[in-house]
Amino acid sequence: MERLHAVAEVRERVTQWRRESRAVGLVPTMGNLHDGHLSLVREARRHCERVVVSVFVNPTQFGPGEDFDAYPRTLEADAERLREAGVEMLFAPTVEAMYPLGANRTWVEVDALGDHLCGADRPGHFRGVATVVSKLFNIVQPDVAVFGEKDFQQLAILRRMATELLFPIRIIGAPTAREADGLAMSSRNGFLTETERARAPLLQQHLQDARRAVEQGERDFRALEKRLTVSLADHGFEVDYLTVANADTLAPAGPDDRDLLIAAAARLGKPRLIDNLTLSLPAG
Ligand code: PAJ
Repeated sequence: MERLHAVAEVRERVTQWRRESRAVGLVPTMGNLHDGHLSLVREARRHCERVVVSVFVNPTQFGPGEDFDAYPRTLEADAERLREAGVEMLFAPTVEAMYPLGANRTWVEVDALGDHLCGADRPGHFRGVATVVSKLFNIVQPDVAVFGEKDFQQLAILRRMATELLFPIRIIGAPTAREADGLAMSSRNGFLTETERARAPLLQQHLQDARRAVEQGERDFRALEKRLTVSLADHGFEVDYLTVANADTLAPAGPDDRDLLIAAAARLGKPRLIDNLTLSLPAG
C-alpha cells in the first residue's frame, strides 16, 4: 500500500491506473477506522481493482464548539488496518493541500436536503462535507465512491450532488455495521463511559420501536416522535431529534408517505450518536 500526502502524486498514480484500464474506487473517511469503515472498503473492492481510502479530518464540516480538535487522529493504526485490508492507496492530505488558499471561498451546497435532521442542528456542516468530497472527487476521479447508510442524510446529499454536478462517479451506499448489541459502529463510541456504552444500544432499539408502531398502523408521527424522545431522555439521552421523515426529501413524513426514514441523533454523555433505519409501507 502506498501512503500519499500530495495531490499531484495521487493524480499521477491514478492516471497510471487508468492507462492500465483499472477501475478505481474511493472511500472517503476521517480516520480512526473501525470495522464499519472496513466494510466500505470491502464494498469498494467488489467493484474496483484499485481502492483508495482518504483519511482527512475536514475542518470545514465542524461547527464552532464541535470536536474538530478532539477528533481522534490515529493515522499509524489506520494505515496498518488498511494495509491488512489490501487497500492500494491511503491518501492522507494536509489541511493546506485541501484548502490551498487558506480560508475557503468556493463552496458546494445542496439545497433543501440539508435543512432537516442533522443539518438543522449543524448549520454549514453539509456544505463542508459536500465541498470536501467534491475536492476528493476532483483529485482521485474514481469510478465508484462508497459511503455508509449510517450517515443517511450525508449519503442522500452526496448522491444528489454527484448527479447534479455531473460527476461521472457511481455513488454506492453500504449498510450500517453494528456491534453485537446493535450499537452502530462509530469513531465517537470510544468517548462513552462504561455505563453510557451499556445504554447506547437503546438508541437503535427506540428506532425499532418506532418502526414497529408504524408497521402496526401508527400514523400520528409527531406524537410517536414525542413519546420516544421522552423515553430516550428518561434513559439519559439528550435528544437532538428523533424523526419519522420522508426518505426522499428528508422532511417530516406525513400520513400518506410510503418510503420512510426513521432517524435519531442524541448526545449520551460527551459524544453525539446518530442512527437510522428505513421502512417501506405497502401502497394503499
Ligand atoms: P467518517 O465519519 O469517518 O465516515 C466515513 C464513512 O464511513 C462514511 O461514509 C460513513 O457513513 C461510513 N461509516 C461510519 N460508520 C459506519 C458504520 N457503522 N457502518 C457503515 N459505514 C459507516 O463521514 C465522514 O467521515 C465524513 O463526513 C466524510 C464523508 C469523509 C467527509 O469528510
